[in-house]
Amino acid sequence: MTRGDVVARTEARVRELLGGDASGHDWWHVERVRRVALRLGAAEGADAFVVELAALLHDVDDWKASGDPEAASRHAREWLRALDVEPEVVERVAEIVGTLSFKGAGVPTPMRTVEGKVVQDADRLDALGAIGIARAFAYGGSRGRPLHDPEAPPVAHESFEQYRGAGGATLNHFYEKLFLLRDRMNTAAGRRLAEARHRYTEEYVARFLAEWKGEDRED
Ligand code: ADP
Ligand code: NI
Repeated sequence: MTRGDVVARTEARVRELLGGDASGHDWWHVERVRRVALRLGAAEGADAFVVELAALLHDVDDWKASGDPEAASRHAREWLRALDVEPEVVERVAEIVGTLSFKGAGVPTPMRTVEGKVVQDADRLDALGAIGIARAFAYGGSRGRPLHDPEAPPVAHESFEQYRGAGGATLNHFYEKLFLLRDRMNTAAGRRLAEARHRYTEEYVARFLAEWKGEDRED
């Protein structure tokens, strides 16, 4: 099987598995991450095959749905082995898929390889800006969470267990994760995109809070 066939088969499989998920992990999230990861990867001299496969597989069996932090890398490994992908590529992809997820404000999630860095940056960029805002509220809605609760302030989670068990209103997620992403970007181009998306997200939250209090401006 050619590399092009491996990518096409993987794409078809991921489309089938993620389908119309409404919690922010649908196929189009994966497609956006793939596009941005390849763009960042070209600037960083990353291996495009590893980047593309890791981007495609990064949210299959996500821990938030499966409850198992190892499930995603296991799934990626089994799938690529079945397609006879070289073991070295399989391991590089599985490592990325198994380590890229955000795990709380106080929990570092460093990426060892340049391919991992660009896929993680691309995934995090999709949590910021216009799309990121939409995804946060879509995810919150899928979990039955309120938009905002002014009586329950945000928490800086110091462990993955704490982050994983957190409930609360969606607006808190902006402070517990989204506003922290800009300073955790791995690549220069990723950081520049994150900066612009971060500013837009901040403006959005400022307006949200002004409207919440009925104090937004008339002009
Ligand atoms: P990562 O790929 O870093 O693991 P996630 O899978 O945690 O990212 O998040 C997927 C999307 O769901 C992101 O847009 C994220 O901001 C959103 N999300 C995750 N947890 C929450 C939450 N508690 N409230 C609102 N949105 C959330
Ligand atoms: Ni993702």
